[in-house]
Amino acid sequence: MEPSVIAEYTGDEEYMECVKDILDSSVFHSLDKYIQHGTTTCKDHSIQVSYLAYKLCKRFGGNWRSAARAGLLHDLFLYDWHTHARETGNHFHGFTHPRTAFQNAQAYFELSWEEGDIILRHMWPLTPIPPATRAGFAVTCADKVCSAVETTARLKSWVLLCFLARPARR
Ligand SMILES: [Fe+2]
Ligand SMILES: [Fe+2]
Repeated sequence: MEPSVIAEYTGDEEYMECVKDILDSSVFHSLDKYIQHGTTTCKDHSIQVSYLAYKLCKRFGGNWRSAARAGLLHDLFLYDWHTHARETGNHFHGFTHPRTAFQNAQAYFELSWEEGDIILRHMWPLTPIPPATRAGFAVTCADKVCSAVETTARLKSWVLLCFLARPARR
């Protein structure tokens, strides 16, 4: 993660106060083992989604505390989704991981009703039921934005690599 992003969220006292227990937990740190998109780990992806959703709620309304906490926990499925289908036969990670993340989050943390709803509905509109609250929409939107940025960052480096690897003109 960019040092400027780390400095921004760690320097935000209000944000840190409401997510500190999650950021300090070993289960959350274990997300560093898994890649989410491109070269971004699930841990960094979750922090980025959480902080963007928190900022969206601060700007446009919504429970920023729920957005910040559920943003950190929305992808707590705790496996490598790139090899998951091959290893387990579950080809529906996109549809099933919100419930897995919700169950894991419930096992490790005290969740409010809204936080649970945000985690369970964050894949909308891929999954049919939309989030019930503004904070839920903030996390859903932040997740799409961060995923697109992470994926296109890899695409950009791939294009750059192809450009650099092209044969020199004679
Ligand atoms: Fe997800
Ligand atoms: Fe996500």
